[in-house]
Order: sequence, then C-alpha cells, then structure tokens
Amino acid sequence: MAAITRAGRAAANRADGVRPPEQGWLVPLSDVRIDEEIERAALEAVRSGWWSMGPRVAELEREFAAFCGVTHAFAVANGTAALHLGLLAVGCGSRDEVLVPSLNFVAAANTICHTGAAPVFCDIAAANDLNLDPSDAERAIGPATRALVVMHYGGHPCRMDEILELARTRGIAVVEDAAHAPGATWRGRMCGTMGDVGCFSFFSNKNLPTGEGGMIVTDDDALAERIRLLRSHGMTALTWDRHRGHAHSYDVVTHGYNYRLDEIRAAIGSVQLSRLKEQNSKRARLVALYRAALDGVNGIVMPFAARPETDPAMAAAGVQTSVHDPPIHQFTAYRALETQRALPVTEAVASRLLTLPLYPHMSETDVSAVVSAVLAAT
Ligand SMILES: Cc1ncc(COP(=O)(O)O)c(C=O)c1O
Repeated sequence: MAAITRAGRAAANRADGVRPPEQGWLVPLSDVRIDEEIERAALEAVRSGWWSMGPRVAELEREFAAFCGVTHAFAVANGTAALHLGLLAVGCGSRDEVLVPSLNFVAAANTICHTGAAPVFCDIAAANDLNLDPSDAERAIGPATRALVVMHYGGHPCRMDEILELARTRGIAVVEDAAHAPGATWRGRMCGTMGDVGCFSFFSNKNLPTGEGGMIVTDDDALAERIRLLRSHGMTALTWDRHRGHAHSYDVVTHGYNYRLDEIRAAIGSVQLSRLKEQNSKRARLVALYRAALDGVNGIVMPFAARPETDPAMAAAGVQTSVHDPPIHQFTAYRALETQRALPVTEAVASRLLTLPLYPHMSETDVSAVVSAVLAAT
C-alpha cells in the first residue's frame, strides 16, 4: 500500500474538494467533509435572511423524527442542551440522585448538577463492554434516585432490556445519551428512542456533524411539551410564529433557556442526515479493517487499541490519537462528591483506552498508517 505524506494527503483532499487538514496530522482523529451540497445548503440558509430557528429547523426535526420513528424531535443548540432539557423534562431537581456511567463525556454529569440533582457514578460492564453495567446501576439505586442516564459508547447499544426493566420496576426515568449513536439500533429499535428521552449531539466529530447542534426525541406528549417550552425561555410562541403572523404576543409559563438551533446548522444537518446511513456503514467497514489488523495482535484488545503511553510514538507517525474521555468521578469538580462509590472496572480500563482516528471518508491507506503506527508503538 502506498505510503502517505502530509503533502500527499493535502493534495488528495484538494482533488476531492476537501480542504487541507488544518492541524497537519497525516491522519486526524476526526474530520468533516465539505462539498458543494453542504456549501449550497448553508448558503441558501444564509441568503434566506432568516437565520434563527425557522423552517429549516422544523424540516430537520420532521426528518429526524421520521428517521428515528418517534413522535417528537426538538433541535437544540448542542447535545449538552439536549441532556439538560431531558433531565429537566423527566423531573430531575434538587434532592434527587441521577445514575450515570463515569466512563462518559462530562456533559451528562454537569447537566445533572445544573438541575440541582447529584450524579451517582456507576461502573461499566467489562473491559470489552464499555457501557453501563445494569447490575451496578441496580446496586446504586437509592430512595432519591430519579433517573438513569445511559450512554451508548461509540454507538454500541447498552443492554437496554435489563436497563428498561430495572427502570420500570424501580420507577425511575431513562435518559439515553445517544450522542455517539444516531442510526445505531438495538434489536431493531433506534438508540435514543427506548428511554423516556433520547439526546443526540451534532458536534463536529460526531456521526451527524453540523459544527454545534443536537436533538432531543421522545414519544411522550407531556415530556415533549415541557421540552418545547424549556428550549425557548418558557415562551408560548416563538419569534418565527410571530414573524408568520401565527401569534401576536406570548406568555412565559416556566423559567426556560435559549437552547435553540439556527437555520444554517439545520440546513447542514438535513444534508448530513440524508447521508447518515451510508456514512455509518463506511465507519463500520473501517472499524472492521482496524479489528482485522489489530485485535489480538501485540496483546491489543479491541476496543483497546493501545496504552496511552504509546501516544508520543503515534504522534511522531503523524497519527492523532486521544485518550478517550477520562472517568468523570476522577475530575477535580467531582472528586469530593458524597455519592462517590467504588468503580473497579472503570478504573482498571480507563487508563488503557485509546481512541483511534475514524471518519467516513478515511481511506484504507489512512487505516494502514494508523495500524502501522499502533503496531510500532506496542
Ligand atoms: C457521550 C456524549 N454526550 C454528550 C456530549 C455533548 O455534546 P455537545 O458537545 O454537542 O454538547 C458529547 C460530546 O460532545 C458526548 O460524547
């Protein structure tokens, strides 16, 4: 397979209509593809003269709801806003506890704190199953437990049968953090549609990137109404409604937020959504290549690609890697929490996790470069 160079990659990207890599990595951790369809969608939204939440946001919501097979989808400013709204909608507040895996991005824990509730960190299932361990969640349930946040790590669905049964029998709400999982399914059901609410992120490194952005979905009409109000200041009518003459004034019925998405990102989101299935398949093919080349080689276990101390060697090879999100319970802001519990599997696994580059337009040459760098570093 031909060797790749920085100049070669930049030239290939330009030929593809893709801008040259900004950071100078031969293989960046993630990458967005820019083409005429994306540019046209964004430009049309800009030229429409209506930039805040309007028809393109409504269209993206309709498309996303249909894609997931849910009744309600609300576009929001980012995935963190989706989590905050979801937690508030299911009633989390002061004196509540919310279960959440520690091996997770910090957004869920932070937003639990913003509601006034306390996060209770739970362990992951095993070294080769980085999702929440339902039996550890069961042990963590107490009289104050209001909700359980599950995160489908890397788009791999959690053990939702056990989780939903646990939530049903113990009377707690399920908030799905599906930031990594748009289009992923569990027994034929879309991730994000099995709990009370499902939260998605459209951050640049996600499967449906719009820069910033997100979506919250639910089938529950009452939750949907709360989310609709909380997303935009608790107002009963939006600027867009008034612009169209559908409302002349408004009331404010709860203390809400401004978590709205804008038209330019929504326009990009619709294009990205139309490509999501194909892009997810491309990612799956690339993951299969990684697996075939790395799993079981030099003591490497997928999803563990290498130990963090191999990072400098990977960087020297021009391959950007990242230690995946450190466990939240070890961060300064969370270390002193009264609700801290022993998380042996998380602690054993976290220091050995390494995230490898993955984006749909990655070439086999890119994968080979990563694989060679990993093997050289292990
Ligand atoms: C698992 C997870 N949840 C939530 C978020 C927050 O999403 P956003 O960055 O769109 O606020 C992220 C990533 O950014 C994430 O990885």
